[in-house]
Amino acid sequence: MLNWKVRSCLPVIIYIFLGLHFVYTSLADSSVPPFFRRALPAAPNGYIPSGVQCPLFNPSVRNAAEISQNETDWLKRRQNKRLAAMQSFLQRLNITGFNATQYFANFQPSFLPNIGIAFSGGGYRALLNGAGAFAAFDERTKNSTAPGQLGGLLQSVTYVSGLSGGSWLVGSIYTNNFTTITALLNTNTNGIWQFDQSVLSGPTNDTAYFRELLNTVDGKEEAGFPVSITDYWGRGLSYQLVNDTEGGPAYTWSSIASTTDFADGNMPMPIIVALERAPGEQNINLNSSDYEFNPWEMGTWDPTTFGFMPLGILGSNFTEGNLTNGSCVSGFDNVGFVMGTSSSLFNQALLQINNTAIQGALKKITTSLLQNLNESSNDVSVYEPNPFFGYNNATNKNAQEEALILVDGGEDLQNIPFYPLLQANRKVDVIFAIDSSADTLTRWPNGTSMVATYQRNSNSSGIANGTAFPSVPDQNSFVNLGLNRQPTFFGCDSMNSTGIPPAPLVVYIPNSPYTYNSNVSTLTLEFNDTERDALVLNGYNVATMANSTQWSVCIGCAIISRSLHRTNTSVPSACVDCFSRYCWNGTVDTTTPGTYEPSMNVTMTSLAARTNLISQWELMWWFVFQGLVIMSII
Ligand SMILES: *[C@@H]1O[C@H](CO)[C@@H](O)[C@H](O)[C@H]1NC(C)=O
Ligand SMILES: *[C@@H]1O[C@H](CO)[C@@H](O)[C@H](O)[C@H]1NC(C)=O
Ligand SMILES: *[C@@H]1O[C@H](CO)[C@@H](O)[C@H](O)[C@H]1NC(C)=O
Ligand SMILES: *[C@@H]1O[C@H](CO)[C@@H](O)[C@H](O)[C@H]1NC(C)=O
Ligand SMILES: *[C@@H]1O[C@H](CO)[C@@H](O)[C@H](O)[C@H]1NC(C)=O
Ligand SMILES: *[C@@H]1O[C@H](CO)[C@@H](O)[C@H](O)[C@H]1NC(C)=O
Ligand SMILES: *[C@@H]1O[C@H](CO)[C@@H](O)[C@H](O)[C@H]1NC(C)=O
Ligand SMILES: *[C@@H]1O[C@H](CO)[C@@H](O)[C@H](O)[C@H]1NC(C)=O
Ligand SMILES: *[C@@H]1O[C@H](CO)[C@@H](O)[C@H](O)[C@H]1NC(C)=O
Ligand SMILES: *[C@@H]1O[C@H](CO)[C@@H](O)[C@H](O)[C@H]1NC(C)=O
Ligand SMILES: *[C@@H]1O[C@H](CO)[C@@H](O)[C@H](O)[C@H]1NC(C)=O
Ligand SMILES: *[C@@H]1O[C@H](CO)[C@@H](O)[C@H](O)[C@H]1NC(C)=O
Repeated sequence: MLNWKVRSCLPVIIYIFLGLHFVYTSLADSSVPPFFRRALPAAPNGYIPSGVQCPLFNPSVRNAAEISQNETDWLKRRQNKRLAAMQSFLQRLNITGFNATQYFANFQPSFLPNIGIAFSGGGYRALLNGAGAFAAFDERTKNSTAPGQLGGLLQSVTYVSGLSGGSWLVGSIYTNNFTTITALLNTNTNGIWQFDQSVLSGPTNDTAYFRELLNTVDGKEEAGFPVSITDYWGRGLSYQLVNDTEGGPAYTWSSIASTTDFADGNMPMPIIVALERAPGEQNINLNSSDYEFNPWEMGTWDPTTFGFMPLGILGSNFTEGNLTNGSCVSGFDNVGFVMGTSSSLFNQALLQINNTAIQGALKKITTSLLQNLNESSNDVSVYEPNPFFGYNNATNKNAQEEALILVDGGEDLQNIPFYPLLQANRKVDVIFAIDSSADTLTRWPNGTSMVATYQRNSNSSGIANGTAFPSVPDQNSFVNLGLNRQPTFFGCDSMNSTGIPPAPLVVYIPNSPYTYNSNVSTLTLEFNDTERDALVLNGYNVATMANSTQWSVCIGCAIISRSLHRTNTSVPSACVDCFSRYCWNGTVDTTTPGTYEPSMNVTMTSLAARTNLISQWELMWWFVFQGLVIMSII
């Protein structure tokens, strides 16, 4: 609860915000447009979770041995929709020696390849690079069904997962009626992604934004739900990503399940990934449990808590998996809060503060703010009441805790959200992994997240519960062999994996410079439209390898690979070529590489790269914002 002392400080805090904001904007950019196309705060708020009549009969936590009945039912509807889309997509790709129509007529539907796409974290860089790939795969994007293009892949997909910045992408698309990237980028008044105004300044350039953030979160707390930094962060994100007044405080993740288009199977199933923090744990590691938020449920497949709860009634009191007093709460699973949870990288920043380039006075400010935060230990996403209280006491690390604490999904270095797609129950055959990580000093990926998932899945602790992930080399080999410079297939031999094979084939698509140096800093929170669009276009070119016909055929081969195996169909010769060209063949080169500085494949842009100065200011802002917010709640 806010006490009176803190309450009386709020105007001061808002004042400081605006003062610093003024300094910041005059320092950083004097060309901010004078009008803003996002929603303005005005309406009553729907952020506060409240009691409702239980929507289900006797709702309870279930164990994670199977996928839910809801998902099973939905998959049947999705399979029918996918079949037609995939047939015409594969036909368009023109794989010599493979007739898609005939193949599926012979073998459908149980041999239909199951496809997942995973969008990695990496802040706005990941959102925008991922958006380029999303647009490339989406047949609704203009020209995306021309030769050499990949439009139609998205329409053939079953699951789409997002983590941190990748969860913003997935979340923004799904909370806006599965809109297109083109519509999100629209520069007229219907567009949504107006990143020239960062989450730290808001759309309105006055106190209304901050007042509204504080009020809605305050309301949640007064209703008896402890809040955390993520509540503010998530509300701020919503203004950036949700196309409604005040960032749509009433939008919930579970509401996706009741939209007709989704329920009918017209689009893939979206899943957001986060990590569990055990009591007293500072260092999140590969033994931490992964959690997923799908449209029906939240929970983990890991043999720790090993359970799922009905997402729509998150916030209700559960004990040992059952409602404590028969009453239900809804509205807790706010979309911003879910996206904010997946991206609550504050904990990580806290641990890395000494490694950053911050110097002198800036460092002093941030360090003292961080100390306050640390003492309050309120630097994470708080899910209280804990839906898994008293559930699986023997293995659930938080079984005796009133709050379930979740953090940024990438904190264990598994920055690509493979997790939901590796569950054997989901039978995914091929995963397109869009990696926008900043692993190297030059902020390009080097396979770190692939290595992390491989390690977790081969960990003797059994945390991954037998899930199969293909063999991958170390990060040095990724760089030395150029596996991070162009797409690579991992797991061409489906039996060479961790856990219980077959593993899915992983099509690893690392961020790399085609038409733009897309390695902007993770903490860059502000982009003008030119820069934003250049990042998206680069992402498009990364995914299509600059619209290569040869690559598009190989994408088709990756998709049908496991299915061909299941149906004992011989591999078309075009695909044999593809596999020898794109499969990692087991070679390693572990020598330490020099600085990784790739140059652009296609020179098409005159945009200058971001300067480090901007990101330092932004970094400071990030801490100041979080620090002040925390001061207002302790
Ligand atoms: C399909 O590929 C074959 C051989 O690669 C080529 O001759 C043919 O023109 C292509 N068809 C289309 C519609 O692109
Ligand atoms: C689509 O293709 C046409 C014809 O090749 C071209 O004129 C147009 O600029 C393309 N549009 C986009 C958005 O790339
Ligand atoms: C959502 O999109 C679908 C398909 O484009 C459209 O038919 C429907 O009217 C849209 N719903 C809303 C509420 O805009
Ligand atoms: C945003 O909302 C407005 C008003 O409902 C609508 O006209 C516009 O098409 C929406 N934009 C997107 C990208 O969905
Ligand atoms: C996964 O974990 C659950 C719960 O501990 C266990 O019942 C199940 O047998 C495990 N599955 C595999 C494949 O090890
Ligand atoms: C949940 O339990 C807490 C503490 O026992 C109580 O204050 C709260 O009213 C309960 N909420 C509901 C919806 O029953
Ligand atoms: C699990 O823990 C809860 C909370 O402490 C306790 O009430 C319950 O009896 C325990 N259940 C089992 C089966 O041990
Ligand atoms: C994870 O658990 C395994 C087995 O208990 C242990 O060997 C390993 O050190 C743990 N890893 C971390 C990072 O704690
Ligand atoms: C690839 O095609 C897209 C869509 O037509 C276009 O916008 C993009 O510029 C093309 N990329 C290259 C490198 O030509
Ligand atoms: C494996 O790939 C490497 C390049 O990554 C190549 O030099 C080597 O010849 C290949 N080995 C085989 C057996 O194909
Ligand atoms: C799996 O692949 C790796 C890398 O090529 C290789 O070192 C290992 O021997 C293979 N294992 C099996 C069982 O084939
Ligand atoms: C957008 O940002 C880029 C890179 O920071 C800069 O070079 C360019 O001038 C900016 N464009 C506008 C219109 O402000």
